[in-house]
Amino acid sequence: MNIRLSPDSKLPACDLIAVIACEGRDPPAGDLGRLVRAAQATGDLKADFRKVGLFHTADKRRPRLLVVGAGKVADLTLERLRRLAALAQAQAEAHGVAELALVCDLTGLGLDAHAAGRAVAEGLVLGAYRYAPPSRKSAKKRAAQAAQVVLLGGERSVFAAGFEFGRLAAAATVFARDLANGPANLVTPTRLAVEAKRLAGRGVSVRVLERRDMERLGMGALLGVAQGSAQPPKLIALDYRPPRAKSTVCVIGKGLTFDTGGISIKPAAKMEEMRYDMCGGAAVLGLFHAIRHGALRQIKRPVRVVGIVGAVENMPGGGAQRPGDVVTACDGTTIEVLNTDAEGRLVLADAIAWARRTYQPKCVVDLATLTGAVVVALGHEVAAVLGNQDGLVQELLAAGKAADEPLWQLPLWEVHKGLNKSKYADLANLPNAAGGAGTIGAAAFLAHFAEDTPWAHLDIAGTAWGAESKDYYTTGATGTGVRTLLQWLLG
Ligand code: BES
Ligand code: MN
Ligand code: ZN
Repeated sequence: MNIRLSPDSKLPACDLIAVIACEGRDPPAGDLGRLVRAAQATGDLKADFRKVGLFHTADKRRPRLLVVGAGKVADLTLERLRRLAALAQAQAEAHGVAELALVCDLTGLGLDAHAAGRAVAEGLVLGAYRYAPPSRKSAKKRAAQAAQVVLLGGERSVFAAGFEFGRLAAAATVFARDLANGPANLVTPTRLAVEAKRLAGRGVSVRVLERRDMERLGMGALLGVAQGSAQPPKLIALDYRPPRAKSTVCVIGKGLTFDTGGISIKPAAKMEEMRYDMCGGAAVLGLFHAIRHGALRQIKRPVRVVGIVGAVENMPGGGAQRPGDVVTACDGTTIEVLNTDAEGRLVLADAIAWARRTYQPKCVVDLATLTGAVVVALGHEVAAVLGNQDGLVQELLAAGKAADEPLWQLPLWEVHKGLNKSKYADLANLPNAAGGAGTIGAAAFLAHFAEDTPWAHLDIAGTAWGAESKDYYTTGATGTGVRTLLQWLLG
């Protein structure tokens, strides 16, 4: 999807002009107003939220007018705007229109111009996304989609900056979705490392730790997970280091390219969904896709961003670790592996400990499809955030809210520290509370490795796929986390 912002507010000649119309608002002046009034005269124009009407006009240079209903001004939100842009795109595509002109008038809507620019760009790009599965019918290519946005009222330069940021954020989300939707035999740890290396350049450097490097570093927790698989594990580190950066943040993603559960094997039903167990890693790669394309050029205080992806496959091969095995993480912590399906926290343990030691970050944020329990607690529309420092958690809550990827804080208190006690090692990878609090137990395990570094954890097992269809998302991987992380860094 190619999108651009038109340099002025003139109505272009275009196969399809789409206009976002609020209930009870007068049509704008000029050419567009004439088209809208003619449509109104038919009696078929409705402005209820998501109602669409296609009108054929008498204007040869603008043969079709699409009116996209926005509902009441008072109810208009950025999420609604994002959906309306996606809806306009879908209608244009359904009518075989290659380029659409979307007219936005922000006058009197009470929306922040930067955020509105972001939402419109995101809606268009994310709405146009379809995963293209491998198929022998590859010849039947989808027609290229393009859109230009015409801004009528609103601060143009601010909207334009938001529009560019949104375009990059959405393209990065598309990148993450594509990686996540790919089958696990194709999207292996090696493939994630290849994709990461392709992001190198323009201030981003990429290094990949191989199995032998991790052995030397003593990453027994991560390597224990990898040992049942024929796929070699990769610990991927992407480093964006702008010249005047004064501090470092580490963003860590769980990159389980497939999670069978290992010897504690999962049931067969829906096991194919465990291809999505790398969505935390995909979010980190998506973040760097955006950074690589200049998304952080807009931030005032430059910060070094290190992205780390623990890319591993969890398989029950002959060399697999057993329940009861004791492994040693790179910080010396010994871990009793009571359940080989609680593998994400083992991979993250080494990644977090290594990140702290290597980069001395001022904070660490991890994203992981870590627990089925978070789906029970919060469903598919809200992700959990937990951490050891309230300021950081509050920042992420605010970023998630602004990006419309909502987060909800779960407690991580003193009383939870004992959840992962073991008789045979420093920690067990299975919380010993007689059931319950699975998401908190997993976070409490990770907290041990964050030690005194400000750290927050996003459990995205519910939101990474399977969310409600909503114009800019239909099915498969959502690409969640990319926009929240960008919003947080923009902060
Ligand atoms: N990747 C899964 C978590 C998951 C489950 C994500 C279902 C999305 C849907 C994770 O590795 C896992 O298996 N967690 C176990 C932990 C348990 C063994 C303590 C779980 O949640 O059941
Ligand atoms: Mn698992
Ligand atoms: Zn997993």
